[in-house]
Amino acid sequence: MLKAGYHVLLINDDQAMTKFFKEKLMLNGGYSVASESSVNSGLDTFTHSSFDVVIVKLNLSGKEGETLIRELKRVDPDCIIIAYLNVVNPEILKEVSRLGVYEVISKPVNLDKLLFLIKKGIDLHLLAATHRRLAHSFKEQNATLEKQNILLAKRIEESTKNLARLYEDLRQTYMRTIRVLAQAIDARDHYTHSHSENVARYAVAIASQMGLGANDLEVIREACELHDLGKIGVEDSILGKTSELTEAEWEQVRKHPIIGAQILEPLTFLNGVIELVRQHHEHYDGSGYPEKRSGGNILLGARIIHVADAYEAMRSARSYRKTPLSKEDAVTEIRVNSGKQFDPEVVTALLSVVNTF
Ligand SMILES: [Fe+2]
Ligand SMILES: [Fe+2]
Repeated sequence: MLKAGYHVLLINDDQAMTKFFKEKLMLNGGYSVASESSVNSGLDTFTHSSFDVVIVKLNLSGKEGETLIRELKRVDPDCIIIAYLNVVNPEILKEVSRLGVYEVISKPVNLDKLLFLIKKGIDLHLLAATHRRLAHSFKEQNATLEKQNILLAKRIEESTKNLARLYEDLRQTYMRTIRVLAQAIDARDHYTHSHSENVARYAVAIASQMGLGANDLEVIREACELHDLGKIGVEDSILGKTSELTEAEWEQVRKHPIIGAQILEPLTFLNGVIELVRQHHEHYDGSGYPEKRSGGNILLGARIIHVADAYEAMRSARSYRKTPLSKEDAVTEIRVNSGKQFDPEVVTALLSVVNTF
């Protein structure tokens, strides 16, 4: 193993020349110089030690020179090879350049030129080695970063899933609470017990018949469960009144869609539901409340809930009408008001599914 300074390997079968190079490079250049006289021993030494520059006499014997250069490059792709040639012509120069030889020298050897070439070669070798080291460390850092990125992405994905789960749990808890509240409001009036539940069943059947998608059906179902929530603001005496309501009492009743929407407004996840609650008493011909909307200005979901709500009210006992209407009478009543109170398309859908209720 060579110890100090820069290391040069001579592979040359001409002993006199090796002696000459060795002396000059050591004395004049201050290099550590090792020498071998055959391809095999040269390769062996090169493989087991570290050299900055290799000087090769190419015509060691026939094709061996080319093989040697290929092997040296295989062991160290950055190795600096100076080829010493007896004969130099353009064709040979082209060939050695193709093999990756750094420089070519020939007889008579200009020692200053050789020392200059070795020095330049060493600089180049150091540069190439530094570049390779940097590229390697860059590659490793990239790989580490990539691993960290994958880990981070996984953590973000898990956190997002956890958040989505938490959000859904929270949403479900809210929904359960509001549903209980809505059921309690239904139960305040003995005659409307399960009213919201039934309206939901009818409305979903109508909406499904009209070809609405799963998301719309879910929003309509939730809106039905909560549609009369605003009756919390209507006095018990009005809800349970058996005689006709006064104008002032009607005034209170007409506020329940707005009160319901206002109660639900802070719950942003109920966005689609809130507007349906607000519009569920609007009439197709504009004679409803609270905003006197008409036709297509009323959300389709609200037009559906309105028909389901009216049908359910007719089919149940109410404080003002102890005996429910028969299915036929309720259907006739709805049909009579098609195009007036009710959207004709929704009425048609109800007629198609009414026998499944
Ligand atoms: Fe209502
Ligand atoms: Fe209702």
